[in-house]
Amino acid sequence: MKDIVISEAVRYVGVDDKTIDLFEGQYKVPNGVSYNSYVILDDKIAIMDTVDKRATSEWLANVEAVLDGKKPDYLVITHMEPDHAGSIQVLAEKYPEMELIASVKAVSMLPQFFTMDAGCRCRGVKEGDTLSLGVHTLHFVMAPMVHWPEVMVAYESTEKILFSADGFGKFGALDAEEDWTCEARRYYINIVGKYGAQVQALLKKAATLDIQTICPLHGPILKENLGFYLGKYDTWSSYRPEDEGVLVAYASIHGNTAGAAKQMAEILKAKGVEKMEITDLARDDMAEAVENAFRYSRMVVAASSYDAGLFPPMDAFLRKLKAKNFQNRRVAVIENGSWAPSAGKCMNELLGEMKNVTVCGTVTIRSAVKPENVEAMEQLADALLAE
Ligand SMILES: Cc1cc2nc3c(=O)[nH]c(=O)nc-3n(C[C@H](O)[C@H](O)[C@H](O)COP(=O)(O)O)c2cc1C
Ligand SMILES: [Fe+2]
Ligand SMILES: [Fe+2]
Repeated sequence: MKDIVISEAVRYVGVDDKTIDLFEGQYKVPNGVSYNSYVILDDKIAIMDTVDKRATSEWLANVEAVLDGKKPDYLVITHMEPDHAGSIQVLAEKYPEMELIASVKAVSMLPQFFTMDAGCRCRGVKEGDTLSLGVHTLHFVMAPMVHWPEVMVAYESTEKILFSADGFGKFGALDAEEDWTCEARRYYINIVGKYGAQVQALLKKAATLDIQTICPLHGPILKENLGFYLGKYDTWSSYRPEDEGVLVAYASIHGNTAGAAKQMAEILKAKGVEKMEITDLARDDMAEAVENAFRYSRMVVAASSYDAGLFPPMDAFLRKLKAKNFQNRRVAVIENGSWAPSAGKCMNELLGEMKNVTVCGTVTIRSAVKPENVEAMEQLADALLAE
C-alpha cells in the first residue's frame, strides 16, 4: 500500500492503475491514474468511496490492512462513476451491516449499476446533512454536474479536510513525477470543462469552509498552498485565459498547411509572443490540444479544405472545443485549398457558434505558401495580437 500520510485517523487506501490504456475510454494516461479512497478511523469507521473494478482486490487488501480486523460502519459514495463506484457491490456484500451514504440522486442510481438489493442499507443525504463518526463529522455539500448529477463532496470539520470527489483530480499515478498543473488542467478541461458554472457554484460554497487538506479521487492529496489550486480552478471554471500566449493548431493533409502554421508561429514569435504551443491535430494528443486552447488567450487554427468541407481532425477539434464551452478567446484562421477552398468557411461557422470567440481574420492559401500569403499572415498576426 502507498505510504501516504493524511493523519492518524484518516488513511489512504487508494490504488494506482498503470496499465489502463485509455482513461474514460479516450484519454491517454502515459503515467497511469490513481483511484483514491480513504478510511476514517473513529468510534464509527467510514470508507470514503471505492475504486474501479480493475483494482478491487488490491484496494480491498489496503482497506483490510487499515481496518485491522474492525468492520466499517459506513461507505460514503460521493460519485457513481465506475472509476470510483466500481467496487461498491463487492464491499457491500463483504460487510452486510455497513450503511451506504450517498446523495439522494446517487441512491436512485445504485440499482442501475448493481444487482444487490441495497435499498434498506442506503441513506440518501441532502445539502447540509452531517454524519458524526465520533471526533470527526462529515458535512455533505451537493455538487451536481461536477461532473455527474449525483456528485457531492464531504467536508470533515475536525481535521478540516475536503473530500472533493473528482474536483482537484489529476491524471497520473501517485508516484508520477510530473507537474500538477499540466495534468490537472488536461483532466479538468476535458472531463469537467463544460460545467464551469457548476464548479463556480461549488467554489463559492468551498470559500465558506476552512479547508486545510483536499483529498480528491485522483492524483495527489493537497496539503499546502491551497490558494494556488483553488485559484487555478477559479480561472478554468470561469473560462478566463490562464496565460497570455498562443496555441497554433493545424490539420494538414500533405504538409503545406503545416508549413504555414509553423511560419505563422515564427511570425508571432518575432512579434514578441513568448508562450506558444504548436500542435498537429492528426498526430498529437487531442486532449492536450483542447487543454492548451483553454490555457492561452489566443489561438491560430490552420486547416486544409476537404471534400467541400473541413479536414476532419480540425473539425473534430473545433467540435470538442464547442462541447467544452470554449469561450472568450481571440482566434486567427488560415485555410488551404487547391480548387475551391472551403475550410475557412467551415472553421468560421464552428467558431461562430461559440460564445464570445472573436475571429480576427482569415487567410487563404492556395496549395503552397506564396510571398503574398506571408504578407497576409503578418497582418493576421497583428490583428490576433491587437487588444
Ligand atoms: C480527399 C481530399 C479532398 C479535398 N477536398 C478539397 C476541396 O473540397 N476543396 C479544395 O479546395 N481542396 C480540396 N482538397 C485539396 C487540399 O485541400 C489542398 O491540396 C491543400 O492545399 C492541402 O493542404 P496540405 O498540403 O496542408 O494538405 C482535397 C484534398 C483531398 C486529399
Ligand atoms: Fe467522474
Ligand atoms: Fe473519476
